[in-house]
Amino acid sequence: MTDAALADRQELLHLLGRHWNPPAATMLAAVDRQVESYAEGAEVVAEDGSRTLDLAGSYGVFLVGHGNPAVRAAVRETLTTNPGYVGGTRHPAVERLVEALRTVVPAELGHLSFGSSGAHVAELALRTVLMARPGRSRVVVVGGGYHGKTLGALTLLGGDGHRDPFASRSPEVVMVPPGDADALDRAVRGRQVAAVFAEPVLGGAHLRVPPPGWFAAVAASCRRTGTLLVADEIQTAFGRTGRLLGADHDGVVPDVLLLSKALTGGMVPIAVLAASAEVIDSARRHPASEQLPPLWGEPGSTGGLRSGVAAAAGAAAIEQVHALDLPGRAAELGPVLLDGLRDAARRHPRHLVDAPGIGLMTGLRARNPAVETLISMQMAHRGIHLGHSLNEDIAQPVLRFYPPLTIERKQIEQVLTALEESLSWLDRRPRALTRGITGLLRRQRSLPPGLVMKLNHSPLKVTW
Ligand SMILES: Cc1ncc(COP(=O)(O)O)c(C=O)c1O
Repeated sequence: MTDAALADRQELLHLLGRHWNPPAATMLAAVDRQVESYAEGAEVVAEDGSRTLDLAGSYGVFLVGHGNPAVRAAVRETLTTNPGYVGGTRHPAVERLVEALRTVVPAELGHLSFGSSGAHVAELALRTVLMARPGRSRVVVVGGGYHGKTLGALTLLGGDGHRDPFASRSPEVVMVPPGDADALDRAVRGRQVAAVFAEPVLGGAHLRVPPPGWFAAVAASCRRTGTLLVADEIQTAFGRTGRLLGADHDGVVPDVLLLSKALTGGMVPIAVLAASAEVIDSARRHPASEQLPPLWGEPGSTGGLRSGVAAAAGAAAIEQVHALDLPGRAAELGPVLLDGLRDAARRHPRHLVDAPGIGLMTGLRARNPAVETLISMQMAHRGIHLGHSLNEDIAQPVLRFYPPLTIERKQIEQVLTALEESLSWLDRRPRALTRGITGLLRRQRSLPPGLVMKLNHSPLKVTW
């Protein structure tokens, strides 16, 4: 590399680190990641032609493959005709999206609302269940669960008509351990719980596959007590776990279903809430019912389904899930990846606890955060990008492998070979290295940038 090219890279990373995301800039500088030129399938191709296999997939977003040609074509066509969507008109892509969603969402959940992010529809779900169960003040969640990060835009609203009754009704949140059906049953028994929010497979850096029958037991406890079940399938839907929906493994139809992430092939962010008629009718009987979105409407937001491009991408991505039989691919290829990860965990117990997963929602549970960080860096040097637990403070975090479901078997083999090399590299390091890094991560949540550069022999400097 010429001095000029290096200086150019250094300057671009400086801007990123200074004005946007310092930890991300440090990681990019450490592994000397090149600027992306294009992405296709499971690969991201840089300007210099080097290829990275993307096993992070933005934590599950790129399920139909990067730059999926069918989704790209639908977006391009809509861009040239009617890219926006004026409420109150008929937009072909919106109608196609509703039709496509009906092939994923159970028939019992006839009501659809659109938002612009997962957190957005999780908020809408919370408002809806509180309205549908007005006498109940609790919500049960699963320890380690994730539903987004928003805080109180409604509480800031000046108009009482919009704010009430929610501002005065922040629910009491009761947390139950993952996979423990008895604890959940006890939590809802007193009929004080409006809803249970649960992911059929606990994602995030915890990644836990519950015992078979857990989600069915949760649904049964809910039904017995009139508690609503909100299935957050933002990570698990569209075939990720080897079935179209995560809830399908247990034959469960929830009362409310949340979808986002993979919904538009990663091209335009949107999210969907689907709910049963019982939920919507109950909520409409609430005195504040005028706040509920109209039948095919949005959750009172400027975002949501205001984009014809988003609708076109969503419809095309769902059609691809079926056309390429992506749930079938995850069911077939998932065990290839998972067996390899489990084998690695067995052979490297000093670094790894286990390899949880189902379908192509898989990961490696590290003994400590240092192991996760070092494997992630070593894999990056070998052209494999993994889902690292950047923002989570967990003693034994799971390094995630969430490839596009279009990944090929030989690419999975490439990942497993790189993993073995990375673990051998780690075997040759003294224990003091992982102990020291874990101590640093516990104390200050991030590593000193100078150390990160040194560990990676990076030619770049951290100047932000
Ligand atoms: C299960 C689950 N629910 C909700 C969310 C929040 O989605 P968003 O980041 O689009 O707000 C996420 C995001 O990772 C998620 O994994």
